[in-house]
Amino acid sequence: MVSRVIPVEPFDLVIFGGTGDLARRKILPALFRRFCAGQMGPEARVIGAARSEMDTAAYRDFARSAILEFDDDTVCAEENLSGFLEQLHYVTLDARGETGWDALSALMVEGRIRAFYFSVGPGLFGDLAERLHSYGMADAESRIVVEKPFGRDLASARALNQGLAQHFDETQIYRIDHYLGKETVQNLMAIRFGNMLFEPLWNAQYVDHIQITVAEARGVGSRGGYYDKSGALRDMVQNHMMQLLCLIAMEPPAKFDPDAVRDEKLKVIRALDPVGADDVVRGQYEGTKERPGYRNQVENRDTHTESFVALRAHIGNWRWSGTPFYLRTGKRLKARASEIAVVLKEAPHSIFGTQAGHHANILTIRLQPNEGIELGVTIKEPGPGGMRLVDVPLDMTFAEALGPDTADFPDAYERLIMDVVRGDQTLFMRGDEVEAAWRWTDPIIEGWQNSSVAPILYASGSSGPDDALMLMHRDGRRWREIRA
Ligand code: BG6
Repeated sequence: MVSRVIPVEPFDLVIFGGTGDLARRKILPALFRRFCAGQMGPEARVIGAARSEMDTAAYRDFARSAILEFDDDTVCAEENLSGFLEQLHYVTLDARGETGWDALSALMVEGRIRAFYFSVGPGLFGDLAERLHSYGMADAESRIVVEKPFGRDLASARALNQGLAQHFDETQIYRIDHYLGKETVQNLMAIRFGNMLFEPLWNAQYVDHIQITVAEARGVGSRGGYYDKSGALRDMVQNHMMQLLCLIAMEPPAKFDPDAVRDEKLKVIRALDPVGADDVVRGQYEGTKERPGYRNQVENRDTHTESFVALRAHIGNWRWSGTPFYLRTGKRLKARASEIAVVLKEAPHSIFGTQAGHHANILTIRLQPNEGIELGVTIKEPGPGGMRLVDVPLDMTFAEALGPDTADFPDAYERLIMDVVRGDQTLFMRGDEVEAAWRWTDPIIEGWQNSSVAPILYASGSSGPDDALMLMHRDGRRWREIRA
């Protein structure tokens, strides 16, 4: 299967924080791949802007080494690199001062699509928006792209939204959640709304519960400084997992268009019941002989910040009333494995008698690695011995089903940056969505802050604290095994 690449219109993309970690690891390699794919044409320009004193030639060298280090792509030939680098420029700029702004503004060309990527801490969002406006760069065709963390609670997210809204319309603001750019996450919508098979069963009458797991094998590494002020709930649940929950639980939007999709997601978040203290477990990983534990990777050795969280959520609406959603995410777990499992109820009556055991269909959507879907089906165990039943998977790995070309899925950032240029906000979070998500997570965080109870320690390489297992056991259910 050959993927179709539609070139985008010529654009200017300014990366504030152009020498930062995200630019190096994700943004520049993603742009290079789109260049190789023929989607980013020869007229497009990428302008790095940061405080570091360097000229365009030095920035091109910087970008070259970033791409060679972080682009693990084998199809994107290295000889394309010089062509791509010629489209890069650099401006030394002070986000809070006046240095560089005239130079940046002089580089802008009338009538082209302009995107400004705020790849900087949220503390600078307001300053950048204000200067873009005062230097006359914020025209009707301009878009701004902002990264998470979008605030650390409802109040700060609101303040950020208000700061940006002073200079940009909501239709110009692209809040990135890179999970929405993942191929399989978009497939959630295709599976649900492109097939007749699932929708009639997609409700509390047939679904016993839904489990969402985003497990990481790595720890916080060198990000301890940021992470310890954040924790798993802010870092993963409020955004990435919330988005997965929304896509799984939302009503079918009338169209695949930005506001239709985001309206439905927002309704899910607003329908979430508050989470009780007994419905959340938080944990922190311990060290091993070879690897330091969480507390040894952050400054505050007495920290209560969680590197793991598991919780039980309820959506109070007609479709889902009575069906629990179990969410868990953590670092230093058994494997890097993310999946959503929709566990259906057992058949109301077994004609095969009690010896046939308990069987329930499970639809598993594997997000990473090994993207695909699997449907657990109950069949007769082959051979003599009567009607013995066994569960087998109908397994579809996307790469196998769609051919080798598609095994190399575009990275989330490739898709999302091209969507910004195209002006498609469907896969970006709207301001009200982000605020609603904080409104739901804030009380959980406040509850922890008001308690002196520390997170439960769990062994590196495990499935998290035993209490997370208990969260399901006490409901007579169990987590699926974390397996890569
Ligand atoms: C980021 C979090 O948003 O997502 C990280 O800040 C986390 O802590 C990462 O590791 C996970 O992303 P992915 O794409 O590797 O699943």
